[in-house]
Amino acid sequence: MWLQEYPIHYAGCDFNARMSVIRVTDTELLLHSPCEIDPETKEAISALGKIAYIVAPGSYHYFHIASAQAAFSDAETYICPGIERKLPDLDFDWFLGDRPPKAWAGILDQVLVRGNKHIWEVAFYHRSSRTLLLVDLIENFTDQTPNVNWLLKLWWKAVFRMWDNPKPAPEYQMGWQDKTAANRSLSKILEWDFDKIIMSHGDLIEVNAKERVLEAWAKPLSATE
Ligand SMILES: [Fe+2]
Repeated sequence: MWLQEYPIHYAGCDFNARMSVIRVTDTELLLHSPCEIDPETKEAISALGKIAYIVAPGSYHYFHIASAQAAFSDAETYICPGIERKLPDLDFDWFLGDRPPKAWAGILDQVLVRGNKHIWEVAFYHRSSRTLLLVDLIENFTDQTPNVNWLLKLWWKAVFRMWDNPKPAPEYQMGWQDKTAANRSLSKILEWDFDKIIMSHGDLIEVNAKERVLEAWAKPLSATE
């Protein structure tokens, strides 16, 4: 698995997002939450193998899909449900759900996280590295996080209380509508035997990963049937 961070600007805040490239067969790669693919990035990725799959894994993680499709025109595109409403002109092949397609079954498991009215995503588990791969279900901004501006620090420290305190993106925290559905999805994720977390925003979590997730998701997990 290869990772690349790239800068984004959203609601006055500067911070990084993270793209992952995952090997799914001896020759084929999956591009997860792509950044804009400029010629240099295309060359670097192409040196690793053939991009066969482009994945837009979350309801806020689809902005550079067209750029990835232009760069890797033979790849199939999989999207998190709901993106088709935000981008009606997007050309895509498949929706992501709870069951991995044959293309990466055995390499990655996945869960469509339900129950939120503002934001949603498909979480992945990379079996061989025991890694949980999220976009916005955990954010982990700390003093070590590069490329964050003063406004993001202000909001994350003073308002959201999420500085050095991994939590779901604010949109998640304000939008748990069907906590039973959310609990069911998050509980499925917790069945995976992960010991590290790659997320889109903030520092990777490589110690006490499951404990930190349990703490971060305490609210939706507290819902009962
Ligand atoms: Fe995000």
